[in-house]
Amino acid sequence: MRVAVVGKGGAGKSVIAGTMARLVARRGARVLALDSDPLPGLSLSLGSGPEAAEPPLGEAAERDENGRWGWKKGVGPVRAVQRYATGAPDGVRLVQLGKPPREGFGPIIGSSKAFYEIVHNIADARALRDWTFIGDLPAGPRQAAYDYAPYAHTYVVVVQPAAQSALTARRVARIVRMHRRDAEVVFIANRVREAGDVHHVEKLIGEPVLASLPADDGVAAAERLGVAPIDYAPDSPAITAIERLVSALAKM
Ligand SMILES: Nc1ncnc2c1ncn2[C@@H]1O[C@H](COP(=O)(O)OP(=O)(O)OP(=O)(O)O)[C@@H](O)[C@H]1O
Ligand SMILES: [Mg+2]
Repeated sequence: MRVAVVGKGGAGKSVIAGTMARLVARRGARVLALDSDPLPGLSLSLGSGPEAAEPPLGEAAERDENGRWGWKKGVGPVRAVQRYATGAPDGVRLVQLGKPPREGFGPIIGSSKAFYEIVHNIADARALRDWTFIGDLPAGPRQAAYDYAPYAHTYVVVVQPAAQSALTARRVARIVRMHRRDAEVVFIANRVREAGDVHHVEKLIGEPVLASLPADDGVAAAERLGVAPIDYAPDSPAITAIERLVSALAKM
C-alpha cells in the first residue's frame, strides 16, 4: 500500500495517516510513515513521542564547499531511511522533513533536501520493495504541485462536510490528477455528524467518497491529552472506520 493523505488544514489528515500506519503495521506489514509537514501532527497521531529539536534526517545531508547540499559520504535515500527513520509503536518507522525551530527554516534545509530525495527514490528501491508507505502532507495543494509524494499509488483526499474543505479537496485532486496521471484519487468524508453529511460532501466535490469517518469524541479527547487516538480510544467509531478504510485501500 502506497498512499499520501492530502486535504485542507484541520481536515483530519494526520489522524487518518497516523492511525492507518499503525493499523497496517498491526496487520504485519512493514510501514514507513512520511511526514512532510513542517508543522507537528503525524508524530502525535502515530504516538511516536515528542520530536527531537533537530530532525534526525539532518544528519544524512551536508553542504559542499560551494554551499550545495548533498548526501553525506556513504549515505543515499535508502540508507538514510534505514539509518535516520525513528521508531513508532507497532514497529512503524517514521521519516520527517523536520519542524523549523524558532530561528526559521535554516536548520531544516538539509533534512528537507534529504526528504525530497527520499520520496523520489523509495518507490523503486529493492530494499523497500514490500514496504507500505503512508505520507502525511501539509494542508493545501502546494506539496502535491511540487510532487512531494511520487511514491503514492493512491492519494487520499480528506474532506469535511463544509464548502471550504470541499473546495480545497477538489483543487488538490485536480492538481494530483494533472501531475500523477497513474495515481488513484479517493475522497474520505471526515467528521460526519448526520445522515445527510456524506451526501452533502459528495455533492460539494461532485464525486463519490470511498469511506466516511464519524465525528468522534474519543479522537478529540486524545488530541486534548496529546495521545495517539488509536491508543486512547482503540474501539471508537472513527478508528473502526479507519480500519475499514485500510481494508478498502488494500483491495485497490
Ligand atoms: N473524526 C474526528 N472526530 C473528532 N475529531 C477529529 C476527527 N478527525 C480529526 N479530528 C480532530 O481535528 C483536529 C485536526 O485533525 P488533524 O490534525 O488530523 O488534521 P490535519 O488535516 O492533519 O490538520 P493540519 O492541516 O493542521 O495538518 C485534531 O484536533 C483532531 O483530533
Ligand atoms: Mg496534519
